[in-house]
Amino acid sequence: MIRRVFIAFIACAAGVECIKYVVQLIKVYHKVKRIPGPKAYPIIGNLLDVIANLRDTIPPFFIEYPKKYGRLYRMWLGPQARIAICGAKYAETIFSSQKYMEKSKDYDLLRPWLGDGLLLSSGNKWRSRRRLLTPAFHFRTLDVFLPTFLENSSIFVDMLEKHSAHGAAIDIFHLAGLCTLDIICECAMGVKVNAQEEDDSEYVVAVKKIAEIVVDRGFRPHLYPDFIFNLTSMAREQQKCLKILHKFTQDVIRKRREDILAGDLEDEDSVKNFLDLLIMAQLKGTAISDAGIQEEVDTFMFEGHDTTATAIAWCLYLLGQNPDVQEKLRDEIEMVLGTNNNYEYELQDFSKLKYLECCIKETLRLYPSVPAIFRNVPVDTALGEYVVPAGTQVALLLYAIHRDPEHYHEPEKFIPERFFSDEVSKRHPYAYVPFSAGARNCIGQKFAFLVQKAVISTVVRHFDIVSVDKIEDTKPKALLVIKPLNGLNILLKRRH
Ligand code: HEM
Repeated sequence: MIRRVFIAFIACAAGVECIKYVVQLIKVYHKVKRIPGPKAYPIIGNLLDVIANLRDTIPPFFIEYPKKYGRLYRMWLGPQARIAICGAKYAETIFSSQKYMEKSKDYDLLRPWLGDGLLLSSGNKWRSRRRLLTPAFHFRTLDVFLPTFLENSSIFVDMLEKHSAHGAAIDIFHLAGLCTLDIICECAMGVKVNAQEEDDSEYVVAVKKIAEIVVDRGFRPHLYPDFIFNLTSMAREQQKCLKILHKFTQDVIRKRREDILAGDLEDEDSVKNFLDLLIMAQLKGTAISDAGIQEEVDTFMFEGHDTTATAIAWCLYLLGQNPDVQEKLRDEIEMVLGTNNNYEYELQDFSKLKYLECCIKETLRLYPSVPAIFRNVPVDTALGEYVVPAGTQVALLLYAIHRDPEHYHEPEKFIPERFFSDEVSKRHPYAYVPFSAGARNCIGQKFAFLVQKAVISTVVRHFDIVSVDKIEDTKPKALLVIKPLNGLNILLKRRH
């Protein structure tokens, strides 16, 4: 009898939940249907559209759909509404309010690697970690990293020289990835992995492999549920990578704590990397466990390496496409740093390289390393003439926002002068957001700018760059970062 009552009770509760879900779905449907978008079919919505276009280099969602449906349009992924934002004024509403800080479920594929680190966490945990880590990225603090940036830039030049011997074209995308991996490993953990010289080390291979697996799974929606994914060989491969990556960071953390306890750090001013900062905070009583330190270090490794490499590679490629810009940039570099290639940079030199900064910004406009970001909308939100209902997810398509002809004339062209300060002041502040914006923006942007400036200026001082691939052959693809499917092939001629 009791069992029957219990079963009836569970059935009623499940029925009530079902009804609530359907009522909510109908409410959402009525609000979303006012937003323009491609024709959706019952039950599957636009899923076929998504699956058919996902493998395109730049799918129509970024450029063609906003032209056709407007800068705010909707898609249905089965019963889930997804609102695409391709215009600065809509992006402003999302970025400028603390209501929309929670990441959508799209990021869950990264969770096995990054845990609940800064990129994925939310609420109080995110707030306290962000407060803890922010000082590590202050401009003055960053000068401890300068020798690492310069040493690795110099190794990068040696590698470029080696690979381009006898006038061979080289894929700058691959090599830039190894250079930034070396830089971020040293700055995040104080460890040299020498990826540029030995790109087959277990850790380096695992970092590359896991990023590939996450992307691959992202293209196969049937593998999203863990219980299906766990049956595949891809899951076993991921497990292997995770074991290597997590063991590596755990060992580094343990060893570094032992060194610090043995007196290797005199005081806070002698902190040498992000890991030191976290361990010091832990030793001084901040509530962060070893697992917490590990997820933050893993997050830096992920966020800090491919993003920066992508920006460096596209910038060098675009300079090779635009010899006049390259010449102008070289003039600036020689004026600030002189013509002696052995000149030792200082942190102040970087702020004098204004045109270089414009070249980097223009590169990130055309090829934002992170082409789209996703947020939950927890409350009904007016965006222009539309209402985006609570419970939906928005996709902020940075690649589309950055190519909006309302804010950029000839948006496809590489014109660094767009970032001269008088031009910038005339533009909508949210028309350029490669590092996201608002409270949840990229914590590492100053760090990233310095890395890019160090590496690019070093390469430009040593080589004349000519791009082999035509722009239409580069086939950029919106993956975790915006990746050229055929690499970015350039020719380098040593300058004397
Ligand atoms: C050119 C290089 C970079 C670009 C374009 C870039 C871009 C971004 C973007 C767009 C976001 C927001 C992601 C989202 O909301 O889904 C982000 C977040 C983040 N980035 Fe970067 N990033 C770069 C380099 C770096 C570096 C070098 C680091 C660390 C050393 C870093 C660490 C982070 C972290 C920890 C977050 C999460 C911040 C939070 O949610 O509080 N990034 N980045």
